[in-house]
Amino acid sequence: MSVFDFFGMMANDIAIDLGTANTLVYKKNGGIVINEPSVVAVSTDNKKIIAIGNPAKLMLGKNPDEVRVIKPLKDGVIADFQVTELMLRNLILRAQKKRLLVRPRVIVCVPSGITEVEKRAVRDSALHAGSREVHLIAEPIAAAIGADLPIDMACGNMIMDIGGGTSEIAVISLSHIVVQNSIRVGGDKIDTDIINYLRKKSNLYVGVQTAEKIKTTIGSANPLKQELTMDVRGRDIVSGYPVTIKITSEEIREAISETVATIIDAIKRLFERTAPELSADIAERGIFLTGGGALLKGLDEKIRKTVDLPVHVVPDALECVVKGAGKVLDDIDRYRQVLIKRIED
Ligand SMILES: Nc1ncnc2c1ncn2[C@@H]1O[C@H](COP(=O)(O)OP(=O)(O)OP(=O)(O)O)[C@@H](O)[C@H]1O
Ligand SMILES: [Mg+2]
Repeated sequence: MSVFDFFGMMANDIAIDLGTANTLVYKKNGGIVINEPSVVAVSTDNKKIIAIGNPAKLMLGKNPDEVRVIKPLKDGVIADFQVTELMLRNLILRAQKKRLLVRPRVIVCVPSGITEVEKRAVRDSALHAGSREVHLIAEPIAAAIGADLPIDMACGNMIMDIGGGTSEIAVISLSHIVVQNSIRVGGDKIDTDIINYLRKKSNLYVGVQTAEKIKTTIGSANPLKQELTMDVRGRDIVSGYPVTIKITSEEIREAISETVATIIDAIKRLFERTAPELSADIAERGIFLTGGGALLKGLDEKIRKTVDLPVHVVPDALECVVKGAGKVLDDIDRYRQVLIKRIED
């Protein structure tokens, strides 16, 4: 009997997008039931969990020595096993809304560039966290399914997922990745760029939460029709006192321009390795962007100008990967071949 034969009958199977910035859980036939930052706060003396997800993220940069605020994933892969397992266990339990009588089968989305060791780490964490069976799916494939691209046809589909820790770009045809490029640069790097820029240019020290807020409020990759300003509070590096200064979207664009260029360069490099017939399909259909980074103002326009091709930001860009994995869960017979076949032990 195939391992999937019970998929259709099990009500509690779930798909998880275990992201550097956000973790989303899709419950079979139930849609997205959890969407929270991948952040955990633990007590430093007894290692007990204090908060997971949104409340933990609010503690970032505001914690006393007694509390450690941890982002257990880095660059798209697990950096802290123990904490990832704790987080997963909590999320799986919450998705079930009851004690686990039958442990769920789980599909976890993983970056396409991950190593065998990293795949095993994800599988083992999900197993220890209470799943019965773990299957992996490459994020670009999940994203493409979530975006309703016709991935099973003999046709080149180019999708780029720009997350917190990684940006992955892939060309998919006949349900498989033909070529891919993965860079460990994403939204987190943009936040760091903003912190460094303000420190150097304005003598202002801000934390990651503020940097992210600046990025999502006035950050842009391309000149805006109406440039924006924002009052930012931070610490003056010289005096040490809290101050508020006005910053502009032009300044932030300069701060992040190098990282934006790196992301666009990854697209150009992939085209160099893409067969001409597939390139022709992509030229006609365009490049599809997903992930939170795709929401950076003017990024689509900047890419369009640089590579001279149509660019589309997929609706619900932040949920696209888990939605795709959820579709696989809901219709496993149709999508079986897209799962990663085997993890070498
Ligand atoms: N409106 C926005 N403008 C710019 N960036 C945004 C916006 N909204 C979210 N982001 C950024 O998107 C990133 C999170 O995206 P996403 O949830 O897709 O990442 P992830 O899947 O957790 O990470 P990864 O795929 O790298 O593991 C964060 O860096 C966040 O700041
Ligand atoms: Mg992601």
